[in-house]
Amino acid sequence: MLILGLESSCDETGVALVAFDPGSPGLPQLRAQALHTQIDMHKAYGGVVPELASRDHIRRVVPLVRQVMEEGGRALADLDVVAYTAGPGLAGALLVGAGAAQALALALGKPVLPVHHLEGHLLSPFLSADPPAFPFVALLVSGGHTQLMQVQGVGQYALLGETIDDAAGEAFDKCAKLIGLDYPGGAALSRLAQQGRPDAYAFPRPLLHSGDLDFSFAGLKTSVATQVQRLLQAAQDGGAPGLSEAQRADVAASAQAAIVEVLVRKSLSALKRTGLRRLVVAGGVGANHELRAQLDAACARMQARVHYPELALCTDNGAMIAMAAAMRLQAGIQQPAAAGAFEVMPRWPFAVAAPA
Ligand code: KG4
Ligand code: ZN
Repeated sequence: MLILGLESSCDETGVALVAFDPGSPGLPQLRAQALHTQIDMHKAYGGVVPELASRDHIRRVVPLVRQVMEEGGRALADLDVVAYTAGPGLAGALLVGAGAAQALALALGKPVLPVHHLEGHLLSPFLSADPPAFPFVALLVSGGHTQLMQVQGVGQYALLGETIDDAAGEAFDKCAKLIGLDYPGGAALSRLAQQGRPDAYAFPRPLLHSGDLDFSFAGLKTSVATQVQRLLQAAQDGGAPGLSEAQRADVAASAQAAIVEVLVRKSLSALKRTGLRRLVVAGGVGANHELRAQLDAACARMQARVHYPELALCTDNGAMIAMAAAMRLQAGIQQPAAAGAFEVMPRWPFAVAAPA
């Protein structure tokens, strides 16, 4: 089975080819992929501009499909299923990928398979050299979501806890903006943090002792804003133009320490609560080095294993969408549908609540 996957839910146009042999239990394999990120275009506005995102997806999607088919050495007629991200995400952006997938499938006389973006992230570690095995606890940390889930198998996702306000990636991005870093500042903040002291400022660790597995990151941004304001005032009083490099690095390191500590502690609590000894991290924030280092150390202490997606597959991409479609088909839990009328789901709940 040859599956083409299209991702266009936000500011990345991703296309990929994944194949599996229906007669064998082996994991689906990535054959080719291509990605265009719009980050440079949105930077000037400090965030994603939905209309610009949609227009850029339109420009990119067909050339990226051509590129992937060529790199995979396959013709469009070889495709068995065209998969696409149906939600959640920006409505206009989703419509571009969904529309392109539907049009292509209709023209080829092939079926389509709509995919949940978060399931793509969740299953992306299965594309790594060290894939996990079911069951596991998943920590899904992206720009829009922060969730802990108990995963029994493909399509069997129970929600253990989630953020009640900002997502972890959003917290990274908002703190980054406060110290003058470009959107999306998560990766830049973590680079700057390497030069700073994580204990320079005691930023709050909300819900750390709440006894549940929920998160809250909105207060952190407020606390960082207040601290930056204080430092700016002191700088101005002393005749300096703004924060020093060392101060910015200290704020970055301290903010990162607060976010990472909460993510690590809650992940460990989820492992203890479920009795599972395998943790899978997915989503853009999963690329964070400090998070990886602390999770590795903490999980080693409790003899648990941690799996991550390849660094390049942490943020949005087409490979994870093609992979999720392939794994759902392989597990027999979803049949592809005839191409034709379609809709996208900008808001689309993912996991069901875990049994008490
Ligand atoms: O999963 P993703 O590509 O998009 C969503 O589906 O939301 O995640 C993007 C998020 C952004 O907030 C970005 O700042 C964050 O992931 N991110 C990072 C790092 N790399 C990306 N946050 C912290 N450290 C990083 N190295
Ligand atoms: Zn994403």
